[in-house]
Amino acid sequence: MADLILVPGATGGVGQLVVSKLLEKGLSVRILTRDANKAAKMFNDKVEIFVGDIREPNTISPAMLNITSIICCTGTTAFPSARWEFDSSINPIELGLAFFDPKLLENKAKNTPLKVDFQAIKNLVAAVPKNLKRFVFVSSCGILRKNYFPFNILNKFGVLDAKQAGEDAIINSGIPYTIIRPGRLIDRPYTSYDLNTLLKATTNGKLGVIFGKGDKLAGDTSRIDVAAACVESLFYPSAANQVFELLNQGERPNVIDWEKLFYQLTIDN
Ligand SMILES: NC(=O)c1ccc[n+]([C@@H]2O[C@H](COP(=O)([O-])OP(=O)(O)OC[C@H]3O[C@@H](n4cnc5c(N)ncnc54)[C@H](OP(=O)(O)O)[C@@H]3O)[C@@H](O)[C@H]2O)c1
Repeated sequence: MADLILVPGATGGVGQLVVSKLLEKGLSVRILTRDANKAAKMFNDKVEIFVGDIREPNTISPAMLNITSIICCTGTTAFPSARWEFDSSINPIELGLAFFDPKLLENKAKNTPLKVDFQAIKNLVAAVPKNLKRFVFVSSCGILRKNYFPFNILNKFGVLDAKQAGEDAIINSGIPYTIIRPGRLIDRPYTSYDLNTLLKATTNGKLGVIFGKGDKLAGDTSRIDVAAACVESLFYPSAANQVFELLNQGERPNVIDWEKLFYQLTIDN
């Protein structure tokens, strides 16, 4: 069966770059999006577009037919924002009280980290074909340091708890996985650009790429490098069943040696 990669979150900052890098490699791409018009404009009809919401299992199962791998780039904001899709009944007092008891918002917002980064990831895990070759998941640095600054602030509304539970759902499924934990994302989302611009995107940073284990690193990570790591990981068996941090540090070589970076993970275990 020919490779067919499903990308939920393809309209987002990392997701768009993942799609462009998959196309660059000549792979067939199917995306899962809530907004088909936005996606059609973005990808010039070069991808299959399935409309679905990862919170709704019945909307994701049609997109799973014949896929061989999935690269999941979905996410919502760490702090309350319009992207949480609040009920119209929410009032400023409730929002204020939520800073003391964040759980108060769970019944008032539809697209919170708990729902997107955990419950919806469980939905994807349950729906993927049993013979899936790889489940690639964009997670976050700080998951094992939630009690330490600045991650205690970042996790105020549970984003790191949710990402960790999402990671666990993938790991415990028995599906081969690659979990990438970036630092603070830089190289701004190319959200208003077209596919040709995405294909030419280069990181403005002069820093190299390093991988870490055990959640000890901190710093910035280029969205372009996250997207490249997601796509490259599909080609290397050494990237299977690995969880690692990805940051930009040190001098940037002319060409990133992904094979060496993934291989290093297996000998550091
Ligand atoms: N920002 C940081 O510094 C940082 C640091 C570490 C890790 N991360 C993680 O890195 C990943 C990529 O970040 P990013 O900034 O590139 O993401 P982004 O631009 O915010 O994109 C998120 C994507 O998720 C989709 N999405 C959200 N809720 C959905 C739902 N219910 N059903 C289907 N799709 C949904 C969005 O689609 P719509 O267009 O339909 O909304 C969008 O395509 C995220 O998982 C984020 O948590 C971010």
